[in-house]
Amino acid sequence: MTTPKTFHVKSFGCQMNAYDGERMSEMLGAQGLTAADADSADLVVLNTCHIRERAAEKVYSDIGRLAKRDGARPMIAVAGCVAQAEGAEINRRAPQVDIVVGPQAYHRLPDLVARAAAGNHALDTDMPAASKFDALPRRARRQGASAFLTVQEGCDKFCTYCVVPYTRGAEISRPWSHIVDEAKALAEGGAREITLLGQNVNAWSDKTGRGLHDLIEAIALIPGIARIRYTTSHPNDMTDGLIAAHRDIPALMPFLHLPVQSGSDPILKAMNRSHSTASYLKIIDRVRAVRPDIAVSGDFIVGFPGESDADFAATLQIVRDVDYAMAYSFKYSPRPGTPAATMDSQIAPELMDERLQALQALLNEQQHRFNRASVGRTTEILIERDGKRPGQKLGKSPWLQSVIVENGPETGSLLTVELVSAAPNSLIGVAVERQAA
Ligand code: SAH
Ligand code: SF4
Ligand code: F3S
Repeated sequence: MTTPKTFHVKSFGCQMNAYDGERMSEMLGAQGLTAADADSADLVVLNTCHIRERAAEKVYSDIGRLAKRDGARPMIAVAGCVAQAEGAEINRRAPQVDIVVGPQAYHRLPDLVARAAAGNHALDTDMPAASKFDALPRRARRQGASAFLTVQEGCDKFCTYCVVPYTRGAEISRPWSHIVDEAKALAEGGAREITLLGQNVNAWSDKTGRGLHDLIEAIALIPGIARIRYTTSHPNDMTDGLIAAHRDIPALMPFLHLPVQSGSDPILKAMNRSHSTASYLKIIDRVRAVRPDIAVSGDFIVGFPGESDADFAATLQIVRDVDYAMAYSFKYSPRPGTPAATMDSQIAPELMDERLQALQALLNEQQHRFNRASVGRTTEILIERDGKRPGQKLGKSPWLQSVIVENGPETGSLLTVELVSAAPNSLIGVAVERQAA
């Protein structure tokens, strides 16, 4: 196989997975490779997700398709959480794969590419002590309006259904100065909004005792940065400082993604969530007390082993109690190596379907209601990209709603609009005043 000149990175997973994909692209670009389509690139990186079975299986169909490409097949690299979880097994199942590289080792991708070009299968799923971040090039000069920045990685919480502690390793916080430097590079590249990422982003801390809210405060001072978000948070790490930040830091957007997973205490216990429904609701109350308009979002799993009708009814109840602006919900997927996969009383797929539908109907209704309640508000949106029709632009409200405007200004601009109508997934805005970008 020859040394690749073009590359394509395809990301399948969460926002951190997307962030890793961007870093890999920037690194390959810095090595002199050019970006290309998946159909023509010499090197295709499949940046995989292992969170649920369906996500994990997608990679194998992609490998099959790539291996059959007319003419020369590309060099195929499997990166991300499936690479970490399945390692060498990937080569047994799909011998066409040239490179397997885990989420903590992708800074070594150029070496692995060289090895594969020399005809050797390359595998690197180490979790090296030295941080990959130190070995990656500075962020690219051109960024979109909204950028991701990983500040914390890994998880020590070991929820019984979840693969993340195994695929991402132990919780680590990146050093303060590295994060602030990266935020500055993103701002110089044109980013106006930064979303701080971590599997438990609100567990970020450093040796001097600073927490995520201190970091947010520092990033808010960087010229060009108008908006800050963070995700995903764990209820147990919702500190007083972070809650107060929602009152005190104007650049911190009024949005909180705080997964609860279930509204039943026995199920939360079986999940090893280490919080209760009451403690969760108390946090929501405290955040709303300082920031009444905050949009609350969550994640839910239906059909966890042993989930009874009463447990599921309790989930619907907590959804009613919280009243979500939006939320993600999933059918429980047994993952190899996790404790829940071998628990008794796994739930039948049909019952899971039924429960998921009922939950999603309620959540969609709440989201639509939240959007309708925004109609009549005058607010600022960040223009993120072109809309479907010529002249249309798509922006985000502070509450993370998609807002469509006709004849909007260029990407990266902040525009004051009146929200004039609402659909379940988006709103229409009309500019009321132009602001300098
Ligand atoms: N660290 C975050 C979320 C990580 S994974 C947290 O603690 O909430 C994102 C979401 O995927 C989870 O919140 C959960 O709702 C879902 N998820 C994780 N493992 C799953 C599984 N085995 N089956 C179904 N959904 C799962
Ligand atoms: Fe997974 Fe739980 Fe950790 Fe979230 S807190 S990443 S759900 S183990
Ligand atoms: Fe998937 Fe890994 Fe993210 S399993 S959800 S890509 S941390």
